[in-house]
Amino acid sequence: METLEKTKIYKKLGFDSEETKEVVSNLNLFLANLHVHYQKLRNYHWNVTGADFFDIHETTEAEYNEVKEEIDEIAERIRVFGATPTSTLSEYIEISEIKETGTDLKAMEMVKEILRDMEILLSFMVDTIEAARAIGDISTDDLVTGFMKRREKIHWMLTSFAKED
Ligand SMILES: [Fe+2]
Repeated sequence: METLEKTKIYKKLGFDSEETKEVVSNLNLFLANLHVHYQKLRNYHWNVTGADFFDIHETTEAEYNEVKEEIDEIAERIRVFGATPTSTLSEYIEISEIKETGTDLKAMEMVKEILRDMEILLSFMVDTIEAARAIGDISTDDLVTGFMKRREKIHWMLTSFAKED
């Protein structure tokens, strides 16, 4: 007789370096882009001028503090897999799709630049989530999905702030 009891299948705890290769490489790219984005937020926090100074000064500070935490979580996730996170500024600059800007942008140009960065970050988050799902890596999926959810909200707020009319 067929039993109605379901057999629970447990995944093992931990992955080997061969199966995590794709996830690690996506995490490293995401990490590099996050670092450049982080420094741009600091740049705009310091150098914004004009009527929107206080809004942008405060919002960029809140955001770079969030990004700082994300950077740490991503790098440590890479260490969990026994790999080495990309850790130098020169490598970040070299591989990051997000590019630096000068300090002399107008306030709204800064906001639009941040929004563009967030769209680039989104593509790296999606790639990382897909790589994680492909190997059943629920924790990386959950971690990066959380970052995505948080960023979608701040993206909406900044888009509303930057709307002209
Ligand atoms: Fe400050």
